[in-house]
Amino acid sequence: MQKVVCPGSFDPVTNGHIDVFKRASDISNEVVVAVLVNHSKAGLFTIEERVELIRESCKHLPKVTVETFDGLLVDFCRDRGVTAIVKGLRAVSDFDYELQMSQMNYQLGPVETLFVATNPLYSFLSSSLVREVARHGGDISTSVPKPVAQALKAKYQK
Ligand code: PNS
Repeated sequence: MQKVVCPGSFDPVTNGHIDVFKRASDISNEVVVAVLVNHSKAGLFTIEERVELIRESCKHLPKVTVETFDGLLVDFCRDRGVTAIVKGLRAVSDFDYELQMSQMNYQLGPVETLFVATNPLYSFLSSSLVREVARHGGDISTSVPKPVAQALKAKYQK
């Protein structure tokens, strides 16, 4: 496959996301991680911080680049010549929503969505859970890349 996209909010990126990026880069020539600019939701990290944290965390993955997008994902895919969207499925609970989005994106695009089954090591992980644990001073060092762990510590020490 030529170019694939891994879209998301990534507030912040977790080891589960990084595993999906790695697996996407194993089956393609180029992986664009696309960070959604969500005007209605501020989030913990700014978009610039999220992008920088993903870049720092993906230094070992040479096929991965990071961009932001605003608007419809299918428009981003068309403008960048993306062949497919690659997403991780953690559990059955992810399935309904992901299926709905993939069907809508196929109808709008059309663009294909490929799912990779999340590594069981990370199937319980989510950005929101990581934020909550970090906010209360819990250990998230095995859940996120080192730069993210440091950034979370700095955020919550303020
Ligand atoms: O990490 P998230 O928040 O689960 O990612 C959701 C994301 C960014 C993939 C999804 O909300 C999205 O693609 N938003 C862009 C707007 C869009 O295209 N909406 C229609 C999707 S069917």
